Amino acid sequence: MSDPKRILSGMQPTNERLHLGNYEGALRNWVELQEIYKLYCCVVDWHALTTMADDPAQIARNSKEIAKDYIAAGIDPAKSTVFIQSHVKEHAELHLIFSMITPLGWLERVPTYKEKQQTVGTEREAYGLLGYPVLQAADILLYKPYGVPVGRDQAPHLELSREIGRRFNRLYGEVFPEFANIIPEDELRAKVPGLDADDDGRLRKMSKSYDNCIYLSDTADETAAKIKGAFTTPTKMRKTDPGVPEGCAVCQLLRLYSPNWQIQWEEDRQGIRGCMQNKSEFIEVLNEHLRPIRERRAAIGDADIDAILRKGAQEAREFAAQTMDEVRLAMHFV
Ligand code: TYM
Repeated sequence: MSDPKRILSGMQPTNERLHLGNYEGALRNWVELQEIYKLYCCVVDWHALTTMADDPAQIARNSKEIAKDYIAAGIDPAKSTVFIQSHVKEHAELHLIFSMITPLGWLERVPTYKEKQQTVGTEREAYGLLGYPVLQAADILLYKPYGVPVGRDQAPHLELSREIGRRFNRLYGEVFPEFANIIPEDELRAKVPGLDADDDGRLRKMSKSYDNCIYLSDTADETAAKIKGAFTTPTKMRKTDPGVPEGCAVCQLLRLYSPNWQIQWEEDRQGIRGCMQNKSEFIEVLNEHLRPIRERRAAIGDADIDAILRKGAQEAREFAAQTMDEVRLAMHFV
């Protein structure tokens, strides 16, 4: 029997739990894809150092919690390999080699670099921040994946990873096959909006840095309270005022979870329903969807997750070590 095709993806443990953007944009896809492909799902703890180098102990705690979220959302450790990046040293070795063949200009053009540079501040900016996508290229190419399932915001990183792989192949010989982007077709899933709006009243992506998230492990009451305070059509003061579902955070998220969203949107538009009704119906469908995830999560102990991660690191290492043998051979470093 030939090997099943592999897919690989990862999330940064910059927080202790995952939000609906992580879930809809990527994790939910992983759960489906693990039935077809051999899935490697990584918690990229070294990447988190680019913004949290002052608190590695927190990164380590977060990593285990993120792995619990993976399992709670439906990742099956018997089928898929769940592991922590820093447990597989091959990621660091390949990163080093890639760092020698990646032109600085490629890295300076990455949009997320400029954003993060502003957040971190120039005087505190570390060398690793610029190299962030080089490490990501190593994460991906080590597993020679068929595809990488991620949200839309990762597309520039994936393109750069491909460029780095091609450059390696040109210089030293074919080691890394091409891989596909696996991004949700539905634009709303590929970029899930948060509960708020920016200064111009426009929705923006759900992100920890905007503090506009619903987390998978929020309690039902926490979820309800957040949704009650969410951004809706600002000109819809009364139920009878016409709504604009395209610009309303609650209507957008409702579309992802409610089978009746088209009717709900039409009634919102026509002023037949008010924002409170949208909110309470959204609270109900979302809490219902998250219930089994929360229940599974509560049942996962620290010892369980440690065992899963130990086994995952072993499996990942096995594949990664083979790729590194090929890399060293191609470069005559044997
Ligand atoms: P990270 O940790 O920022 O996000 C993890 C995943 O969640 C997706 N995502 C979203 N999708 C839709 N809507 C949103 N609002 C939203 N917010 C986050 C992201 O697209 C991502 O798929 N650089 C990566 C981590 C990484 C990686 C890798 C990914 C490191 N090595 C190798 C894939 C393969 C990152 O920062 O993801």
